[in-house]
Amino acid sequence: MKKVLITEFMEQDSVDKMSENFDVTYDTCLHENQAKLSSLIANTNAVIVRNKTQLTEDLLSKAKQLTFIGRLGVGLDNIDTDYCSNNGIFVQPATGMNADSVAEYVITCSLSLLKNIPIAHHGTSSGQWPRTSIESRELGGKTLGLLGFGVIGKKVSRLAQVFGAKVIAYDPFVPESEASKHKVSLVKQEDLFALSDVISIHLPLTDQTRDLINARSFTLMKQNPIIINSSRGSIVNEKDLLQAYSEKIISGFALDVFSSEPVEEDFYKHISYSMNCILTPHNSGVTTESNVRVSQFIAEKTINFLRG
Ligand SMILES: NC(=O)c1ccc[n+]([C@@H]2O[C@H](COP(=O)([O-])OP(=O)(O)OC[C@H]3O[C@@H](n4cnc5c(N)ncnc54)[C@H](O)[C@@H]3O)[C@@H](O)[C@H]2O)c1
Repeated sequence: MKKVLITEFMEQDSVDKMSENFDVTYDTCLHENQAKLSSLIANTNAVIVRNKTQLTEDLLSKAKQLTFIGRLGVGLDNIDTDYCSNNGIFVQPATGMNADSVAEYVITCSLSLLKNIPIAHHGTSSGQWPRTSIESRELGGKTLGLLGFGVIGKKVSRLAQVFGAKVIAYDPFVPESEASKHKVSLVKQEDLFALSDVISIHLPLTDQTRDLINARSFTLMKQNPIIINSSRGSIVNEKDLLQAYSEKIISGFALDVFSSEPVEEDFYKHISYSMNCILTPHNSGVTTESNVRVSQFIAEKTINFLRG
């Protein structure tokens, strides 16, 4: 019987479905135990991970029977994909399965930060009554700039347009015809910085995108934009972001992803209740609904692949 190893949380019905077909080992803590993982992976045919399990060349080289990796999510930066493609290991991400959750998160943050909700909440719940001192703005009529116009960028554009926002995007890999189908104008990166009231990032982390939002980018931006990053941490330089906020170059920010996760004290010690910011623990894509979709999708792909 073929063996499947699941190293992080997967919805139970999907685990059970695979257990009808294969010898499944399901241990949500396995990603923390390198020695056990290394021994179990040696004779497994498929491995299913989220983003905590580091499938490095060192580990994968021990997995002589491995032909399939299912990723319960989208980003593949915890998997040595070069090693996989050179060694006949197929990597299956759950593309699009948590995109609605992330898109809703981006709209939630856009609305909350334009309305200064984090500051209003703190003021009100601490007995102040900051009714007239806090500025509140609408998303309608604002320009939302999307860095990256892939699966999630497109979903965000659709929701933002419902609120009456104008959407522009920078993505050199997307043709004009594709963007215009979504009523989105493609612009140069500098123009996106210059025009956007809200900038939301939907890029993969690559050598080109690492540190893309840095001290220089902030100098190119329209006055007081809001920055939202739900893609990958190191795309935004966190030090430069805090500096830009403290200098009032930006009026708010939301981060779901960080250069180091869990987020380090060196970063969060600079955050206070009086700031217009929202920090979340890399869970914008994790909802009750997306958990089911992601798990069912990967279970189905694993079963089909292993059955050949
Ligand atoms: N926080 C979460 O829970 C969560 C959940 C899902 C996805 N993500 C992350 O969100 C990001 C976007 O996901 P997606 O599903 O939309 O991916 P996608 O691959 O569909 O879209 C990414 C887009 O970025 C574009 N792109 C690549 N390099 C670029 C560059 N240098 N400049 C401009 N555009 C570039 C690509 O052409 C593509 O259209 C990924 O980093 C993914 O890992 C995070």
